Amino acid sequence: MKLYIADIRQVSKSKYEELLPDVSRERYERLLQYHQEPDRVRGLVGELLILRAVKEELGLEKNQISFDSVERGKPVLHGYPEFHFNVSHSKDLVLCAIGSSPVGVDVQSLIIKPDRLISKCLTEKEQAAMHNLPDGKKSEYMTTLWCRKESYMKMTGKGLALPMNLIEFDLLSNTVALLYDAGMIQEVCYLTEPQISDEYKASICMRTKEDLVVIRDINF
Ligand SMILES: CC(C)(COP(=O)(O)OP(=O)(O)OC[C@H]1O[C@@H](n2cnc3c(N)ncnc32)[C@H](O)[C@@H]1OP(=O)(O)O)[C@@H](O)C(=O)NCCC(=O)NCCS
Repeated sequence: MKLYIADIRQVSKSKYEELLPDVSRERYERLLQYHQEPDRVRGLVGELLILRAVKEELGLEKNQISFDSVERGKPVLHGYPEFHFNVSHSKDLVLCAIGSSPVGVDVQSLIIKPDRLISKCLTEKEQAAMHNLPDGKKSEYMTTLWCRKESYMKMTGKGLALPMNLIEFDLLSNTVALLYDAGMIQEVCYLTEPQISDEYKASICMRTKEDLVVIRDINF
C-alpha cells in the first residue's frame, strides 16, 4: 500500500494554469464548475497524484487511461480492475492511497466543534466514551473516528449512504461491525492511520493487511 501526500500550497495560481493541461478532459470540465479556487486546486492535485501512481505502477500515461465510476461514484481505472486507488482532500492536503485490493482513504482537519456531530457520527458506545473524555481531547477523538468511518465507507464505495453512527471498529480483531436494527453484520477490515501532522487525522481502510509506504516528495 502506498500513500501519496501533497500540499496544495505548493500550487500557485500560475502553477495551476501550467498543470491544467495535464489532467483528463473530464477532470478539466469538473474543475471549471468549482467556484472556489482551493476546490479547483484540490481536484487538480488529486488527479495528478492518481496519474503519478498509474505511471509508477502500470507504466501508463494519461492518454492511455480513462476513468469510470462504480457504486455511488467511486472512481476506478477503466480496464484495470486490479488497480485500486482512492483520493481524499481536506484544507491544504490531498492524499491518494493505492493498494492491491479495494482501498478507501480519508483525511480530515481537526473537527473543532464536535458536539453537533456526535449523534450523527458516533455509535452509542462511542458517544459514552467521548462523554468521559476531557474537553481538550474530544476534537481529536471525533476526527479520528470520522476518518476511520469515512475510509471504510470509501473502501466499499458506498460513501455516505452508510450511516456513520451504525459503524463501529474493533481494532484488536481488525473487524468492523455494522449495527443495523435487524442485527449486527461483522466484516474484516484493516485500518492504517498514518501520522500526517498535528492538525489532521487520516485513515486508510483495506480488506487485507499491507505495509504502508508514504511518499511526500511530490514536485509539481
Ligand atoms: C465519497 C464521499 C464520502 C466523499 O466525501 P468527502 O469527505 O467530501 O471527500 P473526500 O475528500 O474524502 O473524497 C473525495 C474523493 O473521493 C472519491 N470518491 C467519490 N465518490 C466516492 C465513493 N462513492 N466512494 C469512494 N470514493 C469516492 C473521489 O476521488 C473524490 O475526489 P474528487 O471529488 O476530487 O473526484 C461522499 O462524496 C459520498 O458519500 N459520495 C457518495 C455519493 C452519495 O451518496 N452522495 C450523497 C448524495 S445525497
